Amino acid sequence: MSEMMWGGRFTKAEEKNALDFNASISFDCRMYKEDIAGSMAHAAMLANQGIISKEDSQKITEGLKKIKKEIDEGKFDFSIELEDIHMNVEKRLTDDIGDAGARLHTARSRNDQCALDLHMYMKRNMGRLADKLIALEEALLSASKKYKDVILPGYTHMQRAQPVLFAHHMLCYFAMLERDFRRLMDCYEMTDMSPIGACALAGTTYPTAPEEEREALHFGKIYGNSLDAVSDRDYLLQFLSFAAICAMHLSRLSEEFIYWSTSEFQFIELDDGYSTGSSIMPQKKNPDMCELIRGKTGRIYGSLMGLLTVMKGLPLAYDKDMQEDKEGVFDAIDNLYFALDIYAGMINTMTVNGSHTREVLEHDFSNATDMADYLAKKGLPFRKAHAVVGNAVHYCIEHHKVLLDLSMEELKSLSPLFEEDILETLKIENCVKNRESYGGTGPKSVARQQAHGEKVIAEMKETASAWKESMAFLG
Ligand code: ARG
Repeated sequence: MSEMMWGGRFTKAEEKNALDFNASISFDCRMYKEDIAGSMAHAAMLANQGIISKEDSQKITEGLKKIKKEIDEGKFDFSIELEDIHMNVEKRLTDDIGDAGARLHTARSRNDQCALDLHMYMKRNMGRLADKLIALEEALLSASKKYKDVILPGYTHMQRAQPVLFAHHMLCYFAMLERDFRRLMDCYEMTDMSPIGACALAGTTYPTAPEEEREALHFGKIYGNSLDAVSDRDYLLQFLSFAAICAMHLSRLSEEFIYWSTSEFQFIELDDGYSTGSSIMPQKKNPDMCELIRGKTGRIYGSLMGLLTVMKGLPLAYDKDMQEDKEGVFDAIDNLYFALDIYAGMINTMTVNGSHTREVLEHDFSNATDMADYLAKKGLPFRKAHAVVGNAVHYCIEHHKVLLDLSMEELKSLSPLFEEDILETLKIENCVKNRESYGGTGPKSVARQQAHGEKVIAEMKETASAWKESMAFLG
């Protein structure tokens, strides 16, 4: 007979390479708090339902507390032979307390147990990520206030387009991350479902009380179908989608910070604390953090694609393929956590070269649309106004001028509609000031966005603290 916990029907031990390949303890040990809390709730429910004795349940709880303390202190010896966190804890418990421990797995399977642990682990980590996401939102909002008068060129096709407030640009990222937070909230709601009680796949012959476990473990709902409870990995895919989109947003910001900090642009300077040097070129100051976050986005996409692919052909219910669900998700959590944390620090400490971003606008045609709008407001159809300004730009390029260099005479020859007030219209500050449309770059519109930002942050904080409070029982 095999020594394994499931060894009854086996005549020999598992081959060493099969055992090593099968084991998930190296990564699922991070769910020990969830595993132990789940087992405590299960034992209590079994006793309350008269399935095991109160005395056994008491022994199980005490035994699990001792194991948790050992793991907390780094003194627990995890064994590959015991495959995963679930069997490592259960075997040790049984070694410690005997038959009571061996009764813990009544009306439970590793299938609903590992699903339960992962649901709780995700909920706990969503609270941690929410904190970091909020800190980054705060950094973006405060940068938008600190540099509230800074104007920089806005681009389309990476060509100078129209001037915008730096604050407006930061608040654009704020808005993206605000949607990311909402995606995380949707994901939390989907994850807030207890799978325990589904057992292997079909439910159980015991008179269990899943509602009691749901309440003890602070879940909002219970899976209504036992096959679904043990087979669902949608909540992880949803999390990875959130993570991939959020990383994509950070990657876009990275790209901008990288070229904004080049000698060619010199729009910002990242703090030394978030920069690195070169081993050979003494003058170098490299934006490694931004590049690394841009790079890490690839592996988060990889985890999403990986799990979608793992799941696409799986028949119901549990298949061992599903053990592949964890590493990519854990990796995405770790890297996104770092990325959000680093970004908040980087934004709080960077310097924006506002005089330079303003100065470069003296030498381009970012005010051309304002010139066309000026003519259109005087009655010229916009398309015709566009053509006049197009000619003006062409003329300026040939004569090494910008629009504000044109004399009244030159302007009049382009269109008789031009009067002295065109000079005010073309001033870069006015190009920004005059864009007070809803969501536009005008200072009043930006102030409105900032006020909205304050409100959003307060709401996010409330959500995050409710999540953390709900998982605080894990210790
Ligand atoms: N370590 C496994 C996993 O991560 C636990 C579930 C194993 N269940 C089973 N029937 N072999 O998926």
